[in-house]
Amino acid sequence: MKLGLNTAVISAAGAADAAARCLEGGGLVAFPTETVYGLGADATNARAVARLYEAKGRPAFNPLIAHVRDLEAAQRIARFDDRSLRLAEAFWPGPLTLVLSKANECPVSDLATAGLETIAVRVPAHPVAQEILRAFGKPVVAPSANISGHVSPTIAAHVLGDLDGRIDLIVDGGPVSVGVESTIVGCFETPMLLRPGGLPREDIERVLGEKLSRPPEEAAADESHPLAPGMLASHYAPRKAVRLNARDVKADEALLAFGPRMISGADKTHVMNLSEAGDLVEAAANLFGYLRELDAGGSRAIAVMTIPDEGLGEAINDRLRRAAVPRS
Ligand code: TXA
Ligand code: MG
Repeated sequence: MKLGLNTAVISAAGAADAAARCLEGGGLVAFPTETVYGLGADATNARAVARLYEAKGRPAFNPLIAHVRDLEAAQRIARFDDRSLRLAEAFWPGPLTLVLSKANECPVSDLATAGLETIAVRVPAHPVAQEILRAFGKPVVAPSANISGHVSPTIAAHVLGDLDGRIDLIVDGGPVSVGVESTIVGCFETPMLLRPGGLPREDIERVLGEKLSRPPEEAAADESHPLAPGMLASHYAPRKAVRLNARDVKADEALLAFGPRMISGADKTHVMNLSEAGDLVEAAANLFGYLRELDAGGSRAIAVMTIPDEGLGEAINDRLRRAAVPRS
């Protein structure tokens, strides 16, 4: 399989064997996880990982998450302590990624971990992802299946729009359920929230019995020493300007709304409401798809209403702040 050929899209039913064969041959396979669609490659095959970086146009310093079928498989690539074991047992399979020390015999290629001594590991819950991981039997690195810097894909059509001709296979499992990427926790001396995501911070802190710390701001901003480079300022990027905490809508703006109450000017423009009921879970699931639609529409810019910063709201606001960073 070569880059530049057409990308095949197949339905999820019975796709696991085809996906596993493609991965085995060094291919790139997009598949649904419960958070967003991932672009998978054989984590142990440096050539396949290199193709993956190339297909995404991704800076090579940005390390990838290794996806495995269960905790036992995770323990073959990473070292767990009491705390990380408790988190894995409480939340896997699910939208949680743990950054851990690499296991001694870790077969994941150094290119995938960008040469770090740590590795990000996740056990996805989506049944299609599970089937593929079981059929393949080895760790699969999978960043979100979009061109680097674009909004993460929540349906197969988003993947095709970004990566047609650049990857080998897309497994279409319909819309994902969570809609924002996994929460990333660094299991260091003090557990650290490296990226807010689909698992609310509060749930993690309850299981740990302690607060998660945040990495220092400068670590997040320094491109040469990424702690979780997904935290680089401008990452989730629509093309249009994005204005947060809008209390009204200007004439040339479309509106990304939240909740039952509308703001002034909303009746005169294109409005997409993340959740009329004010439900943050529904809002997370709609976020990236709605951003894409408003970005494709006729307005000059996108105004966004205020979204509460609790539960999944923390991840939603994190992604929106990145979307709003001015770009040249
Ligand atoms: O929900 C998700 O996590 C999705 C699905 C497909 O599983 N994947 C995803 O991958 O969001 P990606 O590559 O878009 O984001 C991975 C993040 C990046 O911010 C990366 O820098 C961070 O994980 N990361 C990976 N390895 C790391 C490490 N050893 N230390 C710190 N951060 C790491
Ligand atoms: Mg991504």
